[in-house]
Amino acid sequence: MIDATNISKVFNGRKDRKETLAISNLTMSVKRNEFVSIVGPSGCGKSTFLLMLAGLEKPTSGNLTIEGAPILGPGVQRSIVFQEYLLFPWRTVQGNIEFGPRLRKVSKDDCLADTRDFIELMGLTGFEHCYPHELSGGMQQRVAIARALANKPEVLLMDEPFGALDALTRESMQMELQKIWLQTQCTVLFVTHSISEAIFLSDRVVVMSKRPAIVKEELKIALDRPRQRDMHMTRQFREYEAYLKNIVWEEVN
Ligand SMILES: Nc1ncnc2c1ncn2[C@@H]1O[C@H](COP(=O)(O)OP(=O)(O)OP(=O)(O)O)[C@@H](O)[C@H]1O
Ligand SMILES: [Mg+2]
Repeated sequence: MIDATNISKVFNGRKDRKETLAISNLTMSVKRNEFVSIVGPSGCGKSTFLLMLAGLEKPTSGNLTIEGAPILGPGVQRSIVFQEYLLFPWRTVQGNIEFGPRLRKVSKDDCLADTRDFIELMGLTGFEHCYPHELSGGMQQRVAIARALANKPEVLLMDEPFGALDALTRESMQMELQKIWLQTQCTVLFVTHSISEAIFLSDRVVVMSKRPAIVKEELKIALDRPRQRDMHMTRQFREYEAYLKNIVWEEVN
């Protein structure tokens, strides 16, 4: 579904700052309905790659296609949850979530029904009419996820979506995301710093090298679905974890 071939990205410097080669010759692909996680050192180019897939940044060179067509800009079939939860501060929880569907001219009644479902799914019932500044960080991130899902995207791009959540909420969000993914059959590209989160959720984990990013390693995760919380304790899970940790450590150091 997604093909990135020899992607490079150079950010131009300003005045006294040199240019940055963020990504160099990155090649990877993602199949339809696949759940792929990307892990790698901080600053290696993960967010940049996701922004390019969202159509919000352009590669300096290389080909980036979705179902064979080049990505030329943002599109409704791709939703992104940003690393820093970006909500519209002047819109309520409900207003944020229904923003995409309203743009797509979905009827008011359908919008309301969908929004209600996502509000319930994300545990935000009772907060529909609150503004972002009235919510905790974790709640804001759940609104951002609901807003991305409300677009019913074919491709969901998630940039460390659970990074700001407490451990318990994070675990339950992982379970919810798995459920949503199994139900909606969308294709997910998920950036995380947590190797165990990547293993738990993914069909495949891609390790990026330090900057400029290339694909350093890809590992298929052959754990049964749906994944259960106690899978973290199994031998196979721990083996995956030890293997990936070693590779990421080599890059960080
Ligand atoms: N708009 C920009 N202008 C200039 N340089 C940028 C820009 N965006 C990113 N960079 C640079 O590109 C490199 C990759 O940044 P990116 O945000 O993609 O890293 P990351 O892998 O997502 O890191 P983290 O794990 O910390 O979120 C960094 O060196 C960063 O400084
Ligand atoms: Mg990032």
